[in-house]
Amino acid sequence: MQGIEKKKTKETILRQPVSPETTTSKQKGGPSDHFQNVQVVKGINGLDKVVLRQIRGSSAEVYLYGGQVTSWKNDRGEQLLFVSNKAIFKPPKEIRGGIPICFPQFSDFGSLEKHGFARNRMWSIDTNPPPPTTNSPSRAAIDLILKPSKEDLKIFPHSFEFRLRVTLGLEGELMLTSRIRNANSDQKPFKFTFAYHTYFSVSDISEVRVEGLETLDYLDNMKKRERFTEQGDALTFESEVDKVYLSSPTEIAVMDHERKRTFLIRKNGLPDAVVWNPWDKKSKAMADLGDNGYKHMICIEAAAVEKPIFLKPGEEWIGRQELSTVPASYYCSELDPWRVGGS
Ligand code: BG6
Repeated sequence: MQGIEKKKTKETILRQPVSPETTTSKQKGGPSDHFQNVQVVKGINGLDKVVLRQIRGSSAEVYLYGGQVTSWKNDRGEQLLFVSNKAIFKPPKEIRGGIPICFPQFSDFGSLEKHGFARNRMWSIDTNPPPPTTNSPSRAAIDLILKPSKEDLKIFPHSFEFRLRVTLGLEGELMLTSRIRNANSDQKPFKFTFAYHTYFSVSDISEVRVEGLETLDYLDNMKKRERFTEQGDALTFESEVDKVYLSSPTEIAVMDHERKRTFLIRKNGLPDAVVWNPWDKKSKAMADLGDNGYKHMICIEAAAVEKPIFLKPGEEWIGRQELSTVPASYYCSELDPWRVGGS
């Protein structure tokens, strides 16, 4: 489901094994028992993190700090997201890598701090989440919620409710669903921009090819956001890049030739796609990225940037991304049209 919903989301209690110290759990989820595992443990520097595990071996980790996914592993235990080995897991510093949430502002497209404040706030486990959109008994999921503090209201004077669901599917696919609701009681609408700032782990940036953005218009953040049109073939990388591709397709492929792996990004409600790699000089200048960090990452960010989302009181916006991998080479034209699955 894409865009804004006027109807208030029906709220039911989704029982999840989310209390601290929870260990492996089996839940009755339907016709037969299926493995499901959600665990809350202490992560780096004692910060709470939620670990999701699937029966076939894939896993994901989500820090309550930032509501940030910091690990996504396939069933062979291979890490698919880049997290800098110099990342600082210490509030209020944002965590360098994984999937930071940019809200209520992408980058410096506005007067708030860069990328907004959601990525350096402490989120909570949502004890009253929306119902799952599918009854798949195999889902391993966690629902988080962020509401503004008194301090937040001073810089962004709007009573939003941001619900984030992170789901690990049976095949190891990772789904993020954001539901943002205007809970203002003063009849005031608000607007925001947004991104899932995903850092993919790649063997070597010079081996990477991105398909799905060729021929699109983009704003070049390195050229005062001037608008250009991408020419030619799939994107490859040999220098710094910082572009916002506009009205991009719902599916983007990131091919890593050396690892013989292709990431598929499927998005909904998020028309834009940001591509960022800081390259060597900027990488060196970032203490939490380090000299060679840029070589092993590429950020492809499902986003709503060019046209901010407007929400009237009571309205809710939903933005989803689903990440999966397929082996070796992949060509967009070979795939069936994509539809966002349930989460
Ligand atoms: C990208 C922006 O999304 O994030 C870049 O387009 C920015 O301009 C990058 O440099 C990293 O931002 P930050 O705040 O995490 O260092």
